[in-house]
Amino acid sequence: MSDAWTAYWNRGEAMDGRLWQAQCDFFVSRVRKEIPLGPDDVLLDIGCGRGYTAEALAPELRAAHGADTSLHALEEARLRCAGIPGLTFHLLAPDAYLDIHRLPVRNVSVIFCVSVVQYYKNIGEVRTLIANAKKIAAPGCRMLLADLLVDYNGCLDVAGVLIGGLESGTFCAKLQEVFSGKHRLYGRTRAEHPVLTMRRAELEAVCAAENTRLRFIRRNLTGNRFRAHALIEILPAVNAC
Ligand SMILES: C[S@@+](CC[C@H](N)C(=O)[O-])C[C@H]1O[C@@H](n2cnc3c(N)ncnc32)[C@H](O)[C@@H]1O
Repeated sequence: MSDAWTAYWNRGEAMDGRLWQAQCDFFVSRVRKEIPLGPDDVLLDIGCGRGYTAEALAPELRAAHGADTSLHALEEARLRCAGIPGLTFHLLAPDAYLDIHRLPVRNVSVIFCVSVVQYYKNIGEVRTLIANAKKIAAPGCRMLLADLLVDYNGCLDVAGVLIGGLESGTFCAKLQEVFSGKHRLYGRTRAEHPVLTMRRAELEAVCAAENTRLRFIRRNLTGNRFRAHALIEILPAVNAC
């Protein structure tokens, strides 16, 4: 991630709070159908933002951790969630955001990384993230990289944002996101530091190289039907005899 994206996400007004909460509520309601969660699970939500997803799920899990490069988002999450047992937020250094294995988090059974990978620099960083996830993963850990720009088509993607707004009753807010000044800042940042798009085959190759099993989830998890969601199962290491 470039310094420009770090600065963008550290701005308080980077994204409307109600819209962000609504998107996380939508994600939580959908993801449960794909990834069963229970009292033995330990969740790490990478790029947790204001922590809505971890907050919603924490009461039913053994532990929930949110991690983000945005101090501003984390401060809000910590304030709002103070007192929720088993819920912890961690700052990822902007120059070492892939180092999730350095967080005080172990035996993670579920990893979410939702609407974050597009701010990575290249597919090699995705591979490093998966490699580091393996260092803190419990056996059979499920890692979800959601809202990916796989086989990307820009027009379809904007259509997906607006259709999603219609479906969730947040159309006006989405339209505002697309056309407001905030969005112009997003657009300027994006023009100078393009978001990461990838071919499906590239992600498949990365997952195979890291000895993980990849499956794309067809259900719409994030409100944009044209985004891709990769569920990566971290396989137990095979010890050489
Ligand atoms: C679009 S928001 C998504 C937030 C949340 N995951 C959700 O689904 O609502 C992107 C978040 O990812 C964070 N972020 C961006 N790049 C990141 C990186 N390389 N590592 C960790 N967090 C990152 C931003 O600070 C921001 O909070």
